[in-house]
Amino acid sequence: MIRDAREDDWSQIWPIIHDVVTEQRTFAYDPAMTEPEARRSWLPAPPGRVVVALDGDRVTGTANMYANRPGPGSHVASGSLMVARAARGAGVGRALATDLIAWARRSGFAAIQFNAVVDVNEAAIRLYESLGFVTLGTAPGAFRHPELGDVGLRIMWLDLRS
Ligand SMILES: CC(C)(COP(=O)(O)OP(=O)(O)OC[C@H]1O[C@@H](n2cnc3c(N)ncnc32)[C@H](O)[C@@H]1OP(=O)(O)O)[C@@H](O)C(=O)NCCC(=O)NCCS
Repeated sequence: MIRDAREDDWSQIWPIIHDVVTEQRTFAYDPAMTEPEARRSWLPAPPGRVVVALDGDRVTGTANMYANRPGPGSHVASGSLMVARAARGAGVGRALATDLIAWARRSGFAAIQFNAVVDVNEAAIRLYESLGFVTLGTAPGAFRHPELGDVGLRIMWLDLRS
């Protein structure tokens, strides 16, 4: 089940973000990010939105979604998703991504742009491609992976006008 995040979900969202960010394999975020910093960056201003995936009362994943750029770039959406390590591979990421696409469509966005998908993040790339995203280009070596060294960062795009 996916629903809008509530204030009292944060205590379960933060450990998911902390795990993903300190692992340094999928997001170019500062691994020393503090809880207040994470809270500020994960919760976008309206009309941006944050959702949680739930298994009973347990938060198994979270996504945020917002306009990719202000002003002349605000007709393109963006967002991020994170699934708790123990809940991966069970459809939570697909449910979050599908919800993000539905939100962008009903909000009238022309497209969704993911700005920095790590080139070796096979789970994310397969998921996004299965939903129709294409890779527009890759910034070579733009992500410093802890085991693989410098790998690319993809811009992935889903056109919502066609
Ligand atoms: C990427 C991520 C969101 C996927 O979520 P998930 O819940 O594990 O994915 P799902 O179980 O919904 O699987 C969806 C698809 O992803 C792909 N996938 C998932 N895990 C995979 C894996 N280990 N290897 C290859 N493909 C995989 C499959 O194509 C799968 O399709 P299917 O439904 O036909 O099996 C999750 O692994 C995650 O949070 N990773 C860390 C943070 C991150 O990378 N976020 C995205 C940054 S761009």
